[in-house]
Formats: sequence, C-alpha cells, structure tokens
Amino acid sequence: MQKAVVAKVGDYDIRRCERDDVQAVISINMETLPEHYSDYFYYEILAEFPETFLVAEFGGAVVGYVMCRIEYGFSHLKRLGLARKGHIVSIAVKEQHRGKGIGTALMITSQQAMAEKTATESYLEVRVTNNEAISLYEKLGYSASSRLEAYYKDGEAALVMATKLGQ
Ligand code: ACO
Ligand code: ZN
Repeated sequence: MQKAVVAKVGDYDIRRCERDDVQAVISINMETLPEHYSDYFYYEILAEFPETFLVAEFGGAVVGYVMCRIEYGFSHLKRLGLARKGHIVSIAVKEQHRGKGIGTALMITSQQAMAEKTATESYLEVRVTNNEAISLYEKLGYSASSRLEAYYKDGEAALVMATKLGQ
C-alpha cells in the first residue's frame, strides 16, 4: 500500500511513522543522540500519538524522525495557565542528510499535526550547547522559557524552549 506523504522536501518525503519504521528510527537515535529510550517507549508513543510521529524518507530509507507527545499541564508561555502542549520528545536527521531543510520540515509538519490535535503550544528540551538545534528552534519562533540544571545524565543543562501554535 502507498504510504501517505504529508510533505515533500526535494526528493525527501515526510510521512507518518509506521510500526515497521521504528527500528530505523531507533538506529538513527542511537547514532545521533546521547539520549536513548527503550524500544517499548517508541512503540508506545507511536500507538498513542501516531499523528505527530513522523519520518523523512529518501530512496526508500528512513533518514530522519520527529517523535512527539500531546500533554496537558502548566503552560511554558502563560504565567500560571494550563495548556494543551505538544512536546517534541526527540528529533534527528542522519548526518549526511542535514542542512537540506529536513529538520525544518519535520518540525513544521509535526507542529501542524499538534495544532490539529488542539495543542496551543509546543515545547522541548535541548542541550545548552546544541547550537544547530537551538538555531533551528529559534528560526521557527521558539524561545527559551527556562533552564534546567544537570538535566542530562552527564550533568549538562537543558534549555526549555517553547512557541505558540496556530495563528
Ligand atoms: N550550524 C548552525 N545552525 C545550523 C547548522 C549548523 N551546522 N545546521 C543547521 N542549522 C540550523 C539553521 O538555523 C538551519 O536553518 P537555515 O538552513 O535556514 O540556516 C536550521 O538548523 C534548519 O536546518 P535543517 O536543514 O532544516 O535541519 P537539519 O535537517 O540539518 O536537522 C537537526 C537539524 C535535527 C537539529 C540535526 O542537526 C540533527 O539531527 N542533529 C543531531 C540530533 C539533535 O541534536 N537533535 C535535537 C536534539 S533536542 C530534541 O530532540 C528536542
Ligand atoms: Zn522532553
């Protein structure tokens, strides 16, 4: 069956992740990021939030992914307010495919899907030294709402970055 493409960047297709893609997603996570999760975690997120778990495919191979969760809790943008939030849990693009707009397309497409699931804001945590990722998020309108000291296992701090979704 033809897989449903939700966006295109040159010869890359952005489409929803399917169960058969999860092992490729896990390999990309393993080679690109120090934060890993159990296999169960990926399948669980896919089962619960299939609309916002996307992959980038090139020539039949998965070369990038974005995995998100929809949550309800304290807003990162309004003081003391509650909000339905799209949480970008993890995003990565294989090194040879970076700098071509795939990360941007994965972010924009997942944000549209979050908005369709009625989330009003999107947020994520990123290492304070991850300049490429921070520039990507800033370009898309995210700004730092807080800093979490020693957030990562190796002691590095995280920036929490957030942006409003929709108009
Ligand atoms: N130096 C500085 N900024 C960069 C660089 C670079 N080498 N490469 C990309 N960027 C920034 C720029 O702002 C760029 O926008 P521009 O092209 O308009 O200047 C923007 O990123 C988007 O570039 P894309 O080509 O759309 O992004 P790419 O496909 O390269 O993916 C990503 C970006 C996902 C951050 C990639 O670098 C990656 O996989 N990194 C390793 C994994 C990682 O760090 N993931 C994020 C962790 S935090 C989290 O998951 C919530
Ligand atoms: Zn997170």
